Amino acid sequence: MSYECILTELRGSGERKTGLITLNRPKQLNALNDQLMDELGQALLAFDADESVGCIVLTGSERAFAAGADIPTMAPHSFISAFKSGLISKNWETILQVRKPVIAAVAGFALGGGCELAMMCDFIIAADTAKFGQPEIKLGIIPGAGGTQRLPRAVGKSKAMDMLLTARMMDAAEAERGGLVSRVVPADQLLVEALAAADTINAFSGPSVLLIKELVNLAFQAPLKDGVAIERRYFHALFGTDDQREGMDAFINKRKPAFKQC
Ligand code: CAA
Repeated sequence: MSYECILTELRGSGERKTGLITLNRPKQLNALNDQLMDELGQALLAFDADESVGCIVLTGSERAFAAGADIPTMAPHSFISAFKSGLISKNWETILQVRKPVIAAVAGFALGGGCELAMMCDFIIAADTAKFGQPEIKLGIIPGAGGTQRLPRAVGKSKAMDMLLTARMMDAAEAERGGLVSRVVPADQLLVEALAAADTINAFSGPSVLLIKELVNLAFQAPLKDGVAIERRYFHALFGTDDQREGMDAFINKRKPAFKQC
């Protein structure tokens, strides 16, 4: 499949590969227009369906992960046309259907829809140059891809209100302190670190990886009691896999496990 607004490639030396997606509208700081979001959705679903792929890394350029939804193409909308066309709807939510882990590797600006897209990934590794923000209020609008909902869950109410209401940006160090990003790395190591994290995940048993992703996401929807009960059942289910026997035998015999189930 050839794309115009993104680049895709397979990376990794192990049996299972990483699907690398690079947002590629450099002149517009990777502003997220419909074509880009359609292509991103197609690429994500293709990697999710590809048996040779274990993980997906989503990245941008040195200057911007993405500076938000594309402002000039949004500007002419009326309420009715935004509502009828489903502005910031279907093609923005494809990422939520992906069952494999998606790691956001963020350098430079992740603003508005760019910050929201990063937050829809499973975790964010940030370059020390990263800047996060939800500046929609400056445009006379509000976030439309989950910013008012995911940001408070990530950084708490006070910091989220501060960012959303003042439109100030958060640097990488503050984002790490606040829990928005999992780690901060030097900018020139961003992709190396994100791909290494993906390689680590790729070497583990596929069912464990998929179930962890599903269960952590469930933690934001289900009451604790129900989430723990479902986790317990999946925990029991994994004792029906060869990988459980392999993992525990490898530990007991002090050797490296070779997981087979992907
Ligand atoms: N849409 C379209 N084009 C954008 C863009 C966007 N969101 N952000 C930047 N660009 C374009 C600029 O128009 C500019 O293009 P030209 O060279 O043709 O003029 C180019 O990218 C470079 O931008 P700047 O010259 O502004 O670069 P800068 O370094 O001075 O500033 C910036 C960088 C702080 C990111 C600034 O561009 C900016 O504030 N961008 C808008 C950020 C924003 O408001 N994002 C939210 C969008 S709304 C949204 O995302 C809704 C939602 O919830 C989904």
